[in-house]
Amino acid sequence: MSPKNKTHNASRREIETGADRAKPIVFQHGHEIQPYGKIARMPIALDEKVCAASADNLNQLLADTMSLRDMYKKHHWQVAGHTFYQLHLLFDKHFGEQVELVDAIAERIQILGGISIAMAPDVAETTIIPRPPRGREQVPVQISRLLEAHEIILKEARAMAKQADEAGDDGTNDLLVSDVIRTNELQVWFLAEHLVDVPVVRADQKAPSGD
Ligand SMILES: [Fe+2]
Repeated sequence: MSPKNKTHNASRREIETGADRAKPIVFQHGHEIQPYGKIARMPIALDEKVCAASADNLNQLLADTMSLRDMYKKHHWQVAGHTFYQLHLLFDKHFGEQVELVDAIAERIQILGGISIAMAPDVAETTIIPRPPRGREQVPVQISRLLEAHEIILKEARAMAKQADEAGDDGTNDLLVSDVIRTNELQVWFLAEHLVDVPVVRADQKAPSGD
């Protein structure tokens, strides 16, 4: 220790004196400024009832998209077998695309004056995507689970898009059609082709009998 280093023997008060204005004010608590489910009207020329209906729908879609996003990461980590490398990469690509959808859906809810759900316990309470086991599953089961989740999302997204269109909420309709529906449909194609049972090396010589 240097003999010039006076702070070593100084008291805590001596060290902190004069620095109060620079001290972060931590451990703060206070009431919410907007309860969940309520709309803070935004000047976007849309009726509050339309905004509330769209925000409500989008929160359901958000919870389901977050579940699908996380299922992709689960399968990215747990995939096994001779297609490990390609599926490991494909699952992560789709995960990244779902991350972008999650952000776009959540921000649309905020744009409408609503509140986006965010935390895992709230997502778990809201989602209608069936919960997979914690354990490791075979590839066809992983892919089937993902396809089922995509179809649930596509079904609800189409109904929500129609509702937004009829209510005049063009921004929500566009997000649902251009981003959510198109991305999910494309990902379904990439997954579903893995479940077509075709020979890998030697072609079938006989046509199926048809019975
Ligand atoms: Fe990774």
